[in-house]
Amino acid sequence: MNIPTPSGQTSLRALRALVREHSVLAALEVFADELGSIFRFTMPGFNPVMLVGPEAARFVLVSDRQNLRWRNDSDPVTLLLRHGVLVEDGEPHDSLRRAMTPALHKQMLTHYAADMLRCTDSVTARWVPGSAPDMLVEMRRIALLILTDTLFKVDFSSDIGRMWNAVLKTLAYISPGMWILWRNAPRPGYSKALQQMDDYLYQIIRHRKQVLGSTDDLLGHLIDMGMDDDLIRDQLLTMLIAGHDTSTALLSWTLYLLGKHPDSLHQVQAELDAVLGSQPPTAETVIELRYLEQVIEESLRLYPPIHLGSRVAAEDLDFQGHTIPSGTRVMYSIYLTHRMKQHWDEPARFNPERFSAEGSRPRQPYTYLPFGGGPRNCIGAAFGRIEAKLVLARILQQFDLALLPKPVYAHMGATLEPRPGVWMQVMPRASQQSP
Ligand code: HEM
Repeated sequence: MNIPTPSGQTSLRALRALVREHSVLAALEVFADELGSIFRFTMPGFNPVMLVGPEAARFVLVSDRQNLRWRNDSDPVTLLLRHGVLVEDGEPHDSLRRAMTPALHKQMLTHYAADMLRCTDSVTARWVPGSAPDMLVEMRRIALLILTDTLFKVDFSSDIGRMWNAVLKTLAYISPGMWILWRNAPRPGYSKALQQMDDYLYQIIRHRKQVLGSTDDLLGHLIDMGMDDDLIRDQLLTMLIAGHDTSTALLSWTLYLLGKHPDSLHQVQAELDAVLGSQPPTAETVIELRYLEQVIEESLRLYPPIHLGSRVAAEDLDFQGHTIPSGTRVMYSIYLTHRMKQHWDEPARFNPERFSAEGSRPRQPYTYLPFGGGPRNCIGAAFGRIEAKLVLARILQQFDLALLPKPVYAHMGATLEPRPGVWMQVMPRASQQSP
């Protein structure tokens, strides 16, 4: 069977949706509504197959995963991360993954909790009462500090200012753009930033080896295993990018959604007051923050930071009677799967209750997959979840936030981001001020 492609009329409807909502995702929703769980869009130089829904996710992530490669040597992600765990396949991937797992194991997360709070406090301490900082920027600061502090044991606070543009430029380098359609297009303007990132990472590795010596963190593990500096740099950059940009998106979308739904915000704060009082959250006490957890899950459903996964068919594949030829780029859409009418009531509505013990209906596996699935699921899922709970608990325990009424759209960058930003007025909470 041929893979469905959009008709002229469908493409026109998709184009209208794109213009109306300022997001390619709206166009993809039109395609999925009209064409179903597999379709192909044809643009000059770019003809990926898009898969949607739980069966499709299982196909890509589990049943046919051996025949789908991650690595694509002409992609900027591969050019940037070289031999990072994210872009390797087969045995090289599996052995890197085994090497990284201990530093992200659940037991380690309890040790990271205090560092996560300290990094959060160091950023919020600069908030001027009554001002309205952009939470997309503030959450990036927090996520960068946390990632480098916990996994590299590096205090990034004195470098964050001079490295900020290099980080953003590195993210822009791997974000979707003209390179998708025009593979060998010249891409000027990135080399200085990419070099600055490399210099920084190699300097951290040298400093650790020559001055600090062995430590029990991700960087320490990689050095102890005898990896060479280039391979270590690839893993550090992978973790820095994959581990902070996703959390930035998750935290800023969640604050945005809470700003849009003040009743939920008040419910979160009531729970914080009841469970924590004025005590800082810990890895143990956040387990009791059930409503906050529901809010985070609903945020991940509506705006999954990684909204799609991309692979290349290593041989001819068959999905539900459709032949996907070898060499085709195959994408599975987490965003569209999370919004399927067949699986979610009122999918566009923010409703944290759908994740409560009472409110949730039995869900087919792979209808909810913000962290992917199968053996290549997110290695940092537990880290990301506890980080989100600790950071949000700490902020909302201490501050009242009010969203400024500025339009926000879902931008497909390296992750799905609330753009142009999330400006929120911050006020210390009366109940948290000393008498
Ligand atoms: C907080 C929100 C996060 C979300 C929503 C998220 C989402 C995902 C998803 C969907 C995948 C699978 C992509 C695919 O199938 O191609 C993935 C993989 C990955 N994530 Fe995350 N992630 C998050 C946080 C983190 C953190 C904190 C780290 C590191 C500390 C991390 C590191 C990675 C790595 C290295 C992979 C590749 C794993 C492999 O290929 O074996 N992520 N993530």
